[in-house]
Amino acid sequence: MSPRLDEVTARLGGIAYGGDYNPEQWPEEIWAEDIALMREAGVNLVTVGVFSWGLLQPAPGRFEFGWLDRVLDRLHEGGIAVDLATATASPPPWFTTRHPEAALVDVTGARRSHGARQAYCPSSAAFREATVDMAGAMVERYADHPAVVLWHVSNEYANHNWHCYCDASAEAFRHWLEARYGTIDALNAAWGTAFWSQHYGDWREVLPPRAVSYHSFANPTQQLDWWRFSSGEHVRLYRAEHEVIAARATQPVTTNFMSFWKPLDYWDFADAVDLVSNDDYLIVDDRDPAERTAMAADLMRSLASGEPWLLMEHSTSAVNWQPRNRAKAPGELRRTSLQHLARGADGALFFQWRASRAGAEKFHSALVPHAGTDSRVWHEVVDFGADLRKLGAVTGSRVDRPRVAIVHGWESWWAGELDSHPSQDFSPFAQLRRWYGALWGRSVGVDFARPGASLDGYDLVVVPGQYLVDDAAARVITEFVAGGGTVVITWFSGIVDEHDHVRLGGYPGAFAELLGVRIEEFAPLLAGQSVGLSDGSTATLWSEHGRTTTATAVLTYADGPTAGSPALTVHGHGSGHAWYVGTELSDERFGRLVDDLLTAAGVEPVVAGLPRGVEAVRRVGGDGAWLFLVNHTGDEVSVAADGTEVFTGRQVDGALALPAGGAAVVHSTR
Ligand code: GLA
Repeated sequence: MSPRLDEVTARLGGIAYGGDYNPEQWPEEIWAEDIALMREAGVNLVTVGVFSWGLLQPAPGRFEFGWLDRVLDRLHEGGIAVDLATATASPPPWFTTRHPEAALVDVTGARRSHGARQAYCPSSAAFREATVDMAGAMVERYADHPAVVLWHVSNEYANHNWHCYCDASAEAFRHWLEARYGTIDALNAAWGTAFWSQHYGDWREVLPPRAVSYHSFANPTQQLDWWRFSSGEHVRLYRAEHEVIAARATQPVTTNFMSFWKPLDYWDFADAVDLVSNDDYLIVDDRDPAERTAMAADLMRSLASGEPWLLMEHSTSAVNWQPRNRAKAPGELRRTSLQHLARGADGALFFQWRASRAGAEKFHSALVPHAGTDSRVWHEVVDFGADLRKLGAVTGSRVDRPRVAIVHGWESWWAGELDSHPSQDFSPFAQLRRWYGALWGRSVGVDFARPGASLDGYDLVVVPGQYLVDDAAARVITEFVAGGGTVVITWFSGIVDEHDHVRLGGYPGAFAELLGVRIEEFAPLLAGQSVGLSDGSTATLWSEHGRTTTATAVLTYADGPTAGSPALTVHGHGSGHAWYVGTELSDERFGRLVDDLLTAAGVEPVVAGLPRGVEAVRRVGGDGAWLFLVNHTGDEVSVAADGTEVFTGRQVDGALALPAGGAAVVHSTR
């Protein structure tokens, strides 16, 4: 990825503010009002055309660009820049009617119909060709349009069609496997096909992991390769359009990610885009939606290698796709937007500009709600737009480099959540979330690290539930510790290699020597069961039979069949330390461990003494620093700070009173 967001923000003259604009859903008379209102709100960037394929190309070979010409011209006259979509997010019904073979096929072999969106097979050659045609026509017409500052390829890849099991996908999968393994023997070895008589004699016999016999399990490596292949197919589809646009246009090209979206390996995808952009929605049933939002934002910054990134979509208030769609409370729009900006976003865009009257998203909030401008949401939109204009100098600055990294790999996520494992309670994502949440609650900055990427510059590295680790990634972690770093590795990490083959000789194979432990057997706990530990605390989900080899046991199991085996260990390696957490500690004991590790690694919070739920993140650039403070709690807090509060212009000397639900940014010179 070459980070090119600065080209966009330079043309906007500050932080991007706006959202998806779908004028095709409205009569033209409304457009003038739209632009006037955008100006009133300080909107400077809108995404146009995401779902316009059917109107722009109403029939094969026939394009109707007139209405889009008029929209772009008007926006430009109004001083609003455009993130122009290639319109290929959803093929029109004529396409699926002409190419029934390009429709999505599910795991049971049933073909899915058009009538919603993303009704296509990601491996369909006809679909790829049609998208390249469409993108080509768009770029030919609009590459030189003065409103266009960014290209938006498709939309949220793999949101509804992550895996397609059709024959064309099967064929593409075989080619992919041939390129990966070279010979059918190598595939047999990697897939362990000696097991259950799965030996393949010819590539033509190889299939996607379609629905298998009842109460059985498809080959795990076949499943893992399927996740790898399918993720790659979406990236390939993206790249095809990206190339067409980049060959003709000078503006950067991107597509919008979806936070922690399991089907797509965003480390790979990030290599393909000119800038990272993301869609992030508040999950109201989540145990801590604000923590989850922060985590997504930190992932995006990490994908962008620490450079600024763009929040392409979030919501002003309720969405329409959760079981119960809570409206955001007053001030929540501002808080959630500022969370992203604090963590490196140089823009806050929303889905969508004007709430639809028809269609499946008519009850989704927007910048202009159904109620019109005489509404709370609209007033908040206008006020926040004014706030953002005061924050323009932040663009291009970077979040102060975190000292803690959490290793997160998609391959390990895929492999770790396959079936036929010791316990269904193992969830790599839950492990990651637990560590992230603890650090977030302590105002400690966190990056996510791609497995195998350099860990230089970090003091503490967390390896949460990384079940699959290849040799190269294990080496980076071992060398990090040898060089003086502190690493903490949690249960069921380092168990298998890249083929999902168990590393023999004692668990956790990839890390047994580094950790100085040798685990002989897993002893997962049953639902509701807990086990006592040597300090009187209890643990759940998992326990193990084993011993320390060279490590020191900090905690052992005190009762049950694993009594005496190590549950928490530390081992000096080189000039650093490697910790092993072999079970799911209680919240209280876990909290103490996190505190001890931060102290041992010398990691400080961004601001000390803040209660959980009050975020503090510093961005630095040029000779300035901006301390972002976001209070999600119901209490006012006093925060140590010095400088000028950007939104009020007030001087802050030593402390700032941050009201309940409030947010502030304190600027200082460095
Ligand atoms: C996603 C999509 C949008 C819209 C919103 C609704 O982000 O990109 O088209 O469906 O979700 O929340």
